[in-house]
Amino acid sequence: MMSSTAVLQQENELQITPFSPIGAEVKGIRLSDPLSEPTRARLRKAFTDHSVLAFRDQWLDAPQMMAAVQIFGEIFPQHNAKFSIPDHPLVHYISNADTLENGKRYIPGEGYHTDHSNAAAPPMATVLSAVKLPSVGGDTQFVDMVQAYQDLPDEIKQRILGRRAIHVYQSSHSARRLPQLSEGRRASVPDAVLQPLVLRHPNSGHLALYINPIRIEGILGMDDKEALPLLDQLLEHATQEKYQYRHVWKGGDFVMWDNRSLMHKANGDYDMNEERYLYRLMLKGVPLEGANG
Ligand code: SIN
Repeated sequence: MMSSTAVLQQENELQITPFSPIGAEVKGIRLSDPLSEPTRARLRKAFTDHSVLAFRDQWLDAPQMMAAVQIFGEIFPQHNAKFSIPDHPLVHYISNADTLENGKRYIPGEGYHTDHSNAAAPPMATVLSAVKLPSVGGDTQFVDMVQAYQDLPDEIKQRILGRRAIHVYQSSHSARRLPQLSEGRRASVPDAVLQPLVLRHPNSGHLALYINPIRIEGILGMDDKEALPLLDQLLEHATQEKYQYRHVWKGGDFVMWDNRSLMHKANGDYDMNEERYLYRLMLKGVPLEGANG
């Protein structure tokens, strides 16, 4: 139990500074310390308000990371167990040292996407904790799918409102290949799920465009001849620089983002002789609802 003086001190030291157009930097707390309920509540609100939170100077190891994320929710077991770390299988790693089945280097997360949209209840958040970073590059980019939706012409809004897209583990239309699922895992990952093209955010209530080029196989009730160019058009619109926050990683960073209001991508633009290694976790979400429920 924290003393009221300690609670007040924690409240005073916590600084949440918005980035533009989305995201916020969080300073003045250590996520490995006990945090008071008012501090936890401020962090949860900041997450809903800003969609990306970048906590500086945390240096969390895997067990500390698992404990810290409990402020926001429960851990979501990831579909592909290949990237689990040995002692804590719920924690995965991101590394530039892995290869795909074809022997090519695999840069996880290249190309805009939202995580595990092929789950019936996709993860609300993804969290990365930096362990080793290249000296230059390897930023993560995020785009604001709420603003991108709001700015769409009415004619496009009318075409997509109430529509649902078919999400699979690996879209046959995607040039980006994902590592294959093991036999054991394949049985527990849904073949296909339907997700709204425009979702109502479960916390903020805002409408957001919900697309994912690596997972969407098609739009229900729409011919691919119409659906695929429409999806390309939506992607091009949503990934404009004006919707973007680009996170330049610093040692000790702990960054979490909302998969319902953003898309994100990694950049393999750095010297591959340098290591980039981060711990990664996702947090459970709820089934997604469209604009009209
Ligand atoms: C991811 O898509 O989860 C990885 C992002 C990154 O490595 O920057």
